[in-house]
Amino acid sequence: MAEELNIETSASKEEKYSSLLPQIEALVQGEPNLIANLANVAAALKQTFNFFWVGFYLVEDDSLVLGPFQGPIACTRIDLGKGVCGKAWSDKMTVLVPDVDQFPGHIACSSDSKSEIVVPGIDTKGNVQFVLDIDSNVLNDFNEVDQQYLEKVVTLLS
Ligand code: SME
Repeated sequence: MAEELNIETSASKEEKYSSLLPQIEALVQGEPNLIANLANVAAALKQTFNFFWVGFYLVEDDSLVLGPFQGPIACTRIDLGKGVCGKAWSDKMTVLVPDVDQFPGHIACSSDSKSEIVVPGIDTKGNVQFVLDIDSNVLNDFNEVDQQYLEKVVTLLS
């Protein structure tokens, strides 16, 4: 397992993701404990991109429950279909939100959050196991590059 990340700080967003992906693969390879892997991936994404908030919510019965994250304290439970996370869970699809104030039902854990992306982690039976949630304090901070790479990151974890 790699013990430290090697990311060129002046690289573009795409170059950073491209360099990070195999390092995340090495980080989680051989470790069966999901929480340990989610914790390290949240830290790796925070360290690489300095996102305002990055973390995971885990499916538990009819709720999403806060899991490993990096950033300010956050809402503990989210119901199916509620907020951006609940929508990604119920639709089983990534949700990109350029402006959280324009998203009906957005759950504001922090008033500093301006844009958001949520990617569901789906197991081999087709059930959502967790969601990866990333918030930015800048409007329109996420695009298809984030979606493409974050979906690959989540596949490494599911
Ligand atoms: N904004 C999310 C809630 C989780 S926090 O952003 C950490 C939502 O609407 O589901």
